[in-house]
Amino acid sequence: MKTETTIQGLNAALSPARTAKKRIGFVPTMGNLHEGHLNLVREAKKLCDVVVVSIFVNPIQFGPNEDFDNYPRTLDKDSQLLADVGCDIVFAPSVEQMYGKQPLLTNISVSGITADLCGASRPGHFDGVAVVVSKLFNIVQPSLAFFGQKDFQQLAVIRQLVQDLSFPIEVIGVPITRAADGLALSSRNGYLTPEQRAVAPTIYQSLKHAEKALLEGVSLDTVLAEITTQLTQAGFVVDYVEARSPALQMVTDFKQDTVIFVAAKLGTTRLIDNLIVKFVG
Ligand code: PAJ
Repeated sequence: MKTETTIQGLNAALSPARTAKKRIGFVPTMGNLHEGHLNLVREAKKLCDVVVVSIFVNPIQFGPNEDFDNYPRTLDKDSQLLADVGCDIVFAPSVEQMYGKQPLLTNISVSGITADLCGASRPGHFDGVAVVVSKLFNIVQPSLAFFGQKDFQQLAVIRQLVQDLSFPIEVIGVPITRAADGLALSSRNGYLTPEQRAVAPTIYQSLKHAEKALLEGVSLDTVLAEITTQLTQAGFVVDYVEARSPALQMVTDFKQDTVIFVAAKLGTTRLIDNLIVKFVG
């Protein structure tokens, strides 16, 4: 496995694959990798000839009071994990390599689907994601790019971006990887104290409970209110509990496949999760 820190180095490493018209798969990450990230790489390995993983903690997608400075940077351990799952090239650029010394004057803003859910509590976040992912797409020039359903809204934003800006890239969504107790894996789980970690699976339990209730005919409003109550009683500060169609349209009744979204804080750690509830008519 090669590790490149510059665009020039990456181009040199990818040159043989580009000349041979190999299928290049791309998995963008911010590092501190866990099984969720590694499953994206495994999926990419199945569908592509060459797999590139980027590790870049992107400053412009963090708000002023968010965890950019403290975000865990564990490149050596990440590189070992990536080598073990057969990643071909790690691209780990510096902030200067990505953004230069000049301020960025260009913004990319996907409207509509970023207005609520995480977009409401993290203003500017999805612009920062759209810019960095666009830059990485232009740098890597992959045929396929892999994103997790853990960040369901982000995945929708990327699909829209790819369509609207005609990136010649197929976007593949990969299901959520969970710990044995149901907690969705996340780099931010490492911030939790042992006590908070023990409480954190309540999010998934409340989502599964909601799924059962919806399938038994309980109203969507009631089910969403129950999730909020369960999480609040367990000690979370709820940011939102919402239901949307898979295309992120508002839904008021359970009459189609419905995604239930949760964002809630345990102490200072913000956790997100979602569950797609299939409508069986
Ligand atoms: P990061 O949080 O490192 O996540 C990288 C990718 O891993 C994303 O597509 C995310 O959805 C996926 N992922 C994380 N945890 C997962 C889990 N438990 N199951 C399945 N997939 C999971 O998302 C970002 O980085 C950044 O916003 C990025 C797209 C790299 C742009 O900076």
